Amino acid sequence: MCGIVGYIGKQQAAPILLEGLKKLEYRGYDSAGVAVRDGAKSIQVVKAKGKLSVLAQKTEDGKALYGTCGIGHTRWATHGEPDERNAHPHRSTDGSVAVVHNGILENYRELREELKDCGYTFASQTDTEVIANLIDFYLKRDRKGAAEAISRFMERARGSYAIAVMFEEFAGELYLARKDSPMIVGEGEGEMFVASDAAAILRHTRKVYFVDDFTLACVRADGVRFFDISGNPIPKEYQLLDIDAEAAGKGGYEHFMRKEIYEQPRAVSDTLSHYIKEGDIDLGISLHGVKQITVVACGSAYHVGVTLQYAIEKLARIPVRVELASEFRYRDPILGEGTLVVAVSQSGETADTLAAVREAKKRGARTLGIVNVLGSSVAREADDVLYTYAGPEIAVATTKAYSAQLALGYLVALVLGKNNKTLSEEQFARYVSALQELPSKIEETLRSESEIKAFAARHADVHDVFMIGRGIDYAVCMEGALKLKEVSYVHTEAYAAGELKHGTISLVEEGTLVLGVLTQSGVFEKTASNLEETSSRGAIVATVGTKKLCEGQFFPIPETEEPFAASLAVLPLQLLAYHISVCRGLDVDKPRNLAKSVTVE
Ligand code: F6R
Repeated sequence: MCGIVGYIGKQQAAPILLEGLKKLEYRGYDSAGVAVRDGAKSIQVVKAKGKLSVLAQKTEDGKALYGTCGIGHTRWATHGEPDERNAHPHRSTDGSVAVVHNGILENYRELREELKDCGYTFASQTDTEVIANLIDFYLKRDRKGAAEAISRFMERARGSYAIAVMFEEFAGELYLARKDSPMIVGEGEGEMFVASDAAAILRHTRKVYFVDDFTLACVRADGVRFFDISGNPIPKEYQLLDIDAEAAGKGGYEHFMRKEIYEQPRAVSDTLSHYIKEGDIDLGISLHGVKQITVVACGSAYHVGVTLQYAIEKLARIPVRVELASEFRYRDPILGEGTLVVAVSQSGETADTLAAVREAKKRGARTLGIVNVLGSSVAREADDVLYTYAGPEIAVATTKAYSAQLALGYLVALVLGKNNKTLSEEQFARYVSALQELPSKIEETLRSESEIKAFAARHADVHDVFMIGRGIDYAVCMEGALKLKEVSYVHTEAYAAGELKHGTISLVEEGTLVLGVLTQSGVFEKTASNLEETSSRGAIVATVGTKKLCEGQFFPIPETEEPFAASLAVLPLQLLAYHISVCRGLDVDKPRNLAKSVTVE
């Protein structure tokens, strides 16, 4: 949520900041701003409401701002409306401290009152302006330097933050601090980069330092030094990031979402081939002794968990519970012996998922992260991590990361089934080869895009959609409904097909669209009857599945082993959401009110 970029070196900072922010715009896009300084001259701040293009226009793509040191921010509003006043960077009352901030300072109200009593004034409604003033307060009161003032702020702050700070007094230096919000420093030749996400600086360097929690850093053009909150230096090694910078471009597609939908065969195949070796699965970690599993995740990653609940219970006969991470962390969970807590997260930075991992660890459970972003917080804090190899995902609505998470989850299910001997060698081999066929079957399914596009055009003005299915098909509906809601703004509900007539069917009327997902042969007829119950009440019915069992539009998908069918059934629903959004003229990649990673509660 929100993006931070910083630069200090010999080049002009503003164009580099804007280019970096462009890569982070998917994290928040309601306003943006930069602070730049030229040597010892004063810090200049320019901000703009709206997308980054407005700031780019205002600064002539950064050329209007002169200086080789700066910080920038793209915002997703938490405190205060998304307007220019609340955009970052924020300055202290006398303008001598400029701050960009990701996260939420929970005790900002009480700190603001204290600062007001000391004569500080506030131009915005943000918690970030409180940070700028608080740091300024300690700097002036103690006269012990910038790092010391930031340490005092860190002692007082409750909540989460990644901050980059510039001081009028300390030209040639940028200061950083973090708690529960990611931040990295990239090293170049005589220049240094700062970012909340590697995507922003990959074009310039792959040599990066991860800033740890409760750590602060002083960045100069010739290097970076890290300190703990008491001012003790922390030695740190850089890491070389192995991420394909080009993969972050649109590659000829009109939208990232469509590009990423079409990258799914590769995302799934890269993830599988990383762990499948000569017909066997090598996860590189042991799963012996796992007696039960709790999956914690949010949004689509939670839907992956719901699908895996069915797959793991079927293949390995291990009880699985799936919990929304935001609920898990506050509900005093019971984690018996042998419980493995699996945190599923594309970004690895989702605040609730990270908090759930910490909670599980505190309670003595073993934790495993299924994560896409290398070196992210969940990846570093979970006891073990298994990476998905989806590559950078830019569209706010996840597609390829969801598919890669499913693929990796199936591997976990098969390993557990093998360990528990609930799968014979033959069955294991059959399931592994079914997984290896998934990428080509995904490709085959995507070939029906033109029919889905035509269907989307006919129904682009639909008001209410229900997606119904049973078992894994219900889990697919949950994901399909979220996709349609978030990118097309169409009210959609996923329903377990058998549950519809316990109340909700009263909402079905002439013109309601009801989409059935039918991939689980044991319940084909049941779901088909539930669909008919809606069509006899005026609903327009369509189905996604392996067999046409109902009247209405049918989107066929290839057969696969039934525990893996979600990987194919979700594809027509992703494409439907995409095309309805395009037909409605919406911003597919950056739907309103959303951000790619939700790093606040
Ligand atoms: C929906 C979507 C979100 C994320 C959720 C968790 O398309 O992308 O629901 O799945 O915010 O994000 P991660 O996986 O980064 O923890």
